[in-house]
Amino acid sequence: FPGAATFVPDTLDLADLATSARECRGCDLWEPAEHVVFGAGSAGARMMLVGEQPGDQEDRRAAPFVGPAGILLNRALAQADIDREVTYVTNAVKHFKFTRGSGPRRIHQKPLRSEVTACHPWLQAELRAVDPEVVVLLGATAAQALMGPSFRIGASRGEVLALGDAKAVATVHPSAVLRTDDADRDAAFDGLVADLRIAAGLLR
Ligand code: URA
Ligand code: SF4
Repeated sequence: FPGAATFVPDTLDLADLATSARECRGCDLWEPAEHVVFGAGSAGARMMLVGEQPGDQEDRRAAPFVGPAGILLNRALAQADIDREVTYVTNAVKHFKFTRGSGPRRIHQKPLRSEVTACHPWLQAELRAVDPEVVVLLGATAAQALMGPSFRIGASRGEVLALGDAKAVATVHPSAVLRTDDADRDAAFDGLVADLRIAAGLLR
């Protein structure tokens, strides 16, 4: 893929970046998707949260983490005493990748590393524009996009990591909590909250 670099304007203005992202053709994911889903939140946010890619509802509504994973994330943030309104929420990949099943449902597909790499200039631009103190990496795709391909959530979640001038904490993806067996889901949710608390603690 050619990558997003030539589509990213030289600006720290998030609204300008988001507008330009609509024209991105840095990989093939733009074509079947309904919308680009750029990050959302406060330009002055001290905390940035990075997911994998938008899901079905995010693609329809052009907003990150508004579907089932977003509802779970909101609950976890509330339990960790983090106000989502003062964060900036985005994804490693800005277009929804999916296959079509038999019905109207669109089935999420994990992005290729080459797609994550193609989209990386947008994430870098968001990091420059928001300049957060703490970055929360939600799941392996986000963590590997920023910490390198050998990063393992299982081994390093909840650790305080260095990411340029910022600190980072990696944790499980909210969708992974949703997919956890009933018997273990509460524990998985509590683990996410515990990691978010570590991230929040870095701001104080
Ligand atoms: N999963 C993600 O990684 N990001 C979203 O925005 C929604 C679901
Ligand atoms: Fe551009 Fe990223 Fe969308 Fe690919 S996924 S077209 S690189 S915005």
